[in-house]
Amino acid sequence: MSPDPILTVRGAVHAYGGKPVLRDVDLTLRPGEIYALLGPNGAGKTTLIRTICGRIRPDGGTVLLNGRDPARVPAARAGLGLVPQEIALYPNLTVAENLQTFAALAGTPRKAVAAAVRRALELTRTVDRAHVPIKQLSGGYQRRANIAAAIVHEPSLLILDEPTVGVDIDAREAVDAVIRGLRDLGVAVLMTTHDLEQAGALADRVGFLREGRMVLEGEPKALVAEAFGAQMEILVHLAAEADPAGEARLAGEGLERTPRSLVWSRLDADGYAAAERLDKRLRAAGLAPNEIRVREPSLANLFTLLAERKQAA
Ligand SMILES: Nc1ncnc2c1ncn2[C@@H]1O[C@H](COP(=O)(O)OP(=O)(O)O)[C@@H](O)[C@H]1O
Ligand SMILES: [Mg+2]
Repeated sequence: MSPDPILTVRGAVHAYGGKPVLRDVDLTLRPGEIYALLGPNGAGKTTLIRTICGRIRPDGGTVLLNGRDPARVPAARAGLGLVPQEIALYPNLTVAENLQTFAALAGTPRKAVAAAVRRALELTRTVDRAHVPIKQLSGGYQRRANIAAAIVHEPSLLILDEPTVGVDIDAREAVDAVIRGLRDLGVAVLMTTHDLEQAGALADRVGFLREGRMVLEGEPKALVAEAFGAQMEILVHLAAEADPAGEARLAGEGLERTPRSLVWSRLDADGYAAAERLDKRLRAAGLAPNEIRVREPSLANLFTLLAERKQAA
């Protein structure tokens, strides 16, 4: 049997000045689970996080953190660590000095502070930077120090708002490894991210929030399999930017632009065979690709599909 949830949100409803922002949102997190909250800007992700942190009392519904409502019982918030999107540390203090300060603010007994700081440094792999001022650290180390500050009081739920913004690719892996390590210790992790690749690789479950509604929720692999079945994604990397006629031709082949420049994609149940036919036709049309890749669809494809469904609705 799965353990009792750390966090239960039921029927959360909230509006700002009459504008609905959360509409009947349910969310449950259990120990040792990483949950990625996805959705376009303005979907309500940060509002949901504020509600969970007890900073907003929702117009309707309930939030229980370890069985208590954080908006009514401030002590319940001790079970929670928040890593805000902006680095919220004292720039002139070292990592260790910051952690000592945060431990004291969280009410850690003085005798326990040194051990708590040591533990947070180890869990975030920042021991080697303990005595470096925050302002001298790279973006990746600053992010990990920010996580360390959020876990120094040993919360059972860690919330991260966009943890990889301002972090380069290599450092991102280190941030992911820290999040996984905490999960393995039984911490429940709730994160928002724009990085669908990160969400797919890291999250045990994802939820898509759209206009304040949770429109889809589940395990990344299962959601992708359910949406796309045996279809594969074909990625066409063009040698050069297409002119308007070329673009029309690409669209006629069912290809859509991706966020990466020169890369177009489509889904096809015929996978590799379809890619080969497509390659021939594009070459004949003077649109020779540099590279064609065939791969399993990802959360990014699912995200696009959800956005298209929305437009069609
Ligand atoms: N303090 C506020 N007052 C009024 N409207 C707000 C406030 N905070 C957020 N909103 C609005 O609520 C909606 C959801 O915002 P937010 O929760 O920040 O979304 P997300 O984090 O998914 O981008 C947006 O339309 C935003 O403009
Ligand atoms: Mg936000």
